[in-house]
Amino acid sequence: MNETNKAGVTPHALSKNEISERVEALLAEMSLDEKVGQLTQISGAEFMPGPNVEDIIRKHGVGSVLWLNNTKRFNELQEIAIEESPSGIPILFALDVIHGYRTIFPVPLALAASWDPDVAEQAQAVAAKEARAAGIHWTFGPMLDIARDARWGRIVEGSGEDPFLGAAMAAAQVRGFQGEGLSDPERVLACAKHFAGYGAADGGRDYDPVYLPETQLRNVYFPPFKAALEAGVGTFMSAYMDLNNVPASGNRWLLKNILQEEWGFKGFVISDAFGVGSLVTQGFAKDHRDAALRSLQAGQHMDMASNTYLKNLAGLVKDGTISMDEIDAMVRPILETKVRMGLFEHPYVDETLLDKVIALPEHRQTARMAAQRSMVLLRNDDDLLPLSKTQQNIAVIGPLADSMEATEGSWMVFDHQPAAVTVLQGIRNKLPDADIAYALGPDIYRDIPHPFGEFDTTEKKSIQTPENAEAAFQIALKTAQNADLIIMVLGETADMAGEFASRGSLDLPGRQEELLKAVHGLGKPIVLVLINGRPLSINWAAEHIPAILEAWEPGTEGGNAVADILFGDINPGGKLPVCFPRSGNHAPLYYARTLTHLPENDKQYHSRYWDSPTTPLYPFGFGLSYTTFAFSNLQVSESQIKVGEHLTVSVDVTNTGKIAGDEVVQLYIHQKWGRDSRPMRELKGFERLYLQSGETKTVTFQLGPNELRYWSTAANGWVQEAADFDIWVGADSLATLHADLKVID
Ligand code: NOJ
Repeated sequence: MNETNKAGVTPHALSKNEISERVEALLAEMSLDEKVGQLTQISGAEFMPGPNVEDIIRKHGVGSVLWLNNTKRFNELQEIAIEESPSGIPILFALDVIHGYRTIFPVPLALAASWDPDVAEQAQAVAAKEARAAGIHWTFGPMLDIARDARWGRIVEGSGEDPFLGAAMAAAQVRGFQGEGLSDPERVLACAKHFAGYGAADGGRDYDPVYLPETQLRNVYFPPFKAALEAGVGTFMSAYMDLNNVPASGNRWLLKNILQEEWGFKGFVISDAFGVGSLVTQGFAKDHRDAALRSLQAGQHMDMASNTYLKNLAGLVKDGTISMDEIDAMVRPILETKVRMGLFEHPYVDETLLDKVIALPEHRQTARMAAQRSMVLLRNDDDLLPLSKTQQNIAVIGPLADSMEATEGSWMVFDHQPAAVTVLQGIRNKLPDADIAYALGPDIYRDIPHPFGEFDTTEKKSIQTPENAEAAFQIALKTAQNADLIIMVLGETADMAGEFASRGSLDLPGRQEELLKAVHGLGKPIVLVLINGRPLSINWAAEHIPAILEAWEPGTEGGNAVADILFGDINPGGKLPVCFPRSGNHAPLYYARTLTHLPENDKQYHSRYWDSPTTPLYPFGFGLSYTTFAFSNLQVSESQIKVGEHLTVSVDVTNTGKIAGDEVVQLYIHQKWGRDSRPMRELKGFERLYLQSGETKTVTFQLGPNELRYWSTAANGWVQEAADFDIWVGADSLATLHADLKVID
């Protein structure tokens, strides 16, 4: 294989000018067909018959290949690109590495529940290292869609409902994936997706239209993307859906005006899969020629898998509709990215590397730590948890208790074979000598199967008949009856959240609640462990089950991490990155709403429904610990500042319990009046702290123009106003410790 270094320099040494000289030299030699090739990402998936990948690469070269996870094949295709395509430009191999390649980390929603950006950074750094060793250069992550509707399946892929937390997690994940610059051979190029607004799909139905006014986009939906950009993210992916009736894949305002012109993004934008071609299906473009034209001119550099650019752009240039300069402008950032990544110097992957890097013990250790830190203790009456390790007779029950798929969660890389430590296994590992019985109970399934199921190569279980389910129910009950302590593991299977996995209800699917009630009826100590990728309306459990641990979809080491927490080796400290509604019918539900003329804190008007309270079952930011914390001595450095000035807010946090533990200190503000109404609470600072029993630490936050400004509908721009503010600091979004702030002109 040709390992020559064409320019004879390492990418690290390249200055901006040198990069640009190399790109211009390439562009000067490239034919129109080759340029169109660079604007194209083709599918390498065998299940998706399309034009012959090798022929396309030979003729044009291509910008990128996706949906391939085969190290040897990467090198074969790369060799064709380098040795046989006219300009020999290397291919970027892309794959969705969302929360781990071989070592699987908690799903992104769970990572956000750690409220610890370092955890997300470390997780994605390991994911990047493993993926890169397999030959993958580019991941389609992080997913940065704010999601306030728990019915929307893709809530699992993002960081939840809040722009401030979302922005911190976005930047951390970009740092994890990419490292410094783009040239680190142990990292991958990241992609901020899906730009923008996808999480607000009407009714929580995946892909449905989104209507978001500019104030919502700028104040809520854009901040994670802006943070990713500031952290140096190399690429963006446009979303599928119509944003205010203009599909994001053809939305010039989004891609060109905001992203490229206003924010100065210098990388490249790729469509979502088939998104350019779908502009026709969506009733926006007249035909594929129109789709290619409008998508390109909207600012979309690369066409993912629809081959619409490949088939139409050359014709559009030849008939004078698009100029060669326009094409060059779109190819430029793609070539620049390849140069900056050092792809020309190191186009091939060492096929022996994968085995050395994959699943290193330290990767599993990081996965276990991430899972421990992401879990949220929702209830712990009478300190039922932690359990004693002398417990001898335990029943572990439920359809997810021994499911490796559910433990790993949604979005596995292609051809991944599940290999997680399940909750059952984790408990057995923790108590090797105890008697641990297990029963599945009635299994759970999607009523309408997942349409992507056909791409899934993992072995499928056969579906229980109703009679088998009833027998399994009775066995589970009997197993519980014979135990002294019962651990129920309930929630959702991996395909119940994720893409094309929206639900109308947020209840526990299938007969799980029925089984929970029956087991509870036995009157024995019972702990509920939830495995799921979205908030669930576990109203009955919240009232009757004394101990509930939200474990999310915790990844490869998930079961060990659950056991670490249940048996007290780890004190849980995660907090909810999204509120838990009492019903799917209450979605969208989020804490940062504006006040109304009959505010909900008024006794008489507290609920907006007459058939149930509208408060969340668990509020945003909520999570318990095995210890207790007290907040005191809230201080503002100035009680009055001028617009543009800063202040510091400090608070003392004391561990008032008997054991060490973590607390996430959260700061919320409310601007009491202004040109626009502002949310009754907005997160503007947080810090996860570790405190020994009896220890006190002072936590300090800065507030300034960045935190106090907002995009105003009335002013049609960013404003920071002279107004009064409330400040609260505490352990969740219902924090009560309060200070006043006056901002004057
Ligand atoms: C469609 C999904 O919406 C997107 O998130 C993903 O990156 C692409 N397919 C590629 O697999």
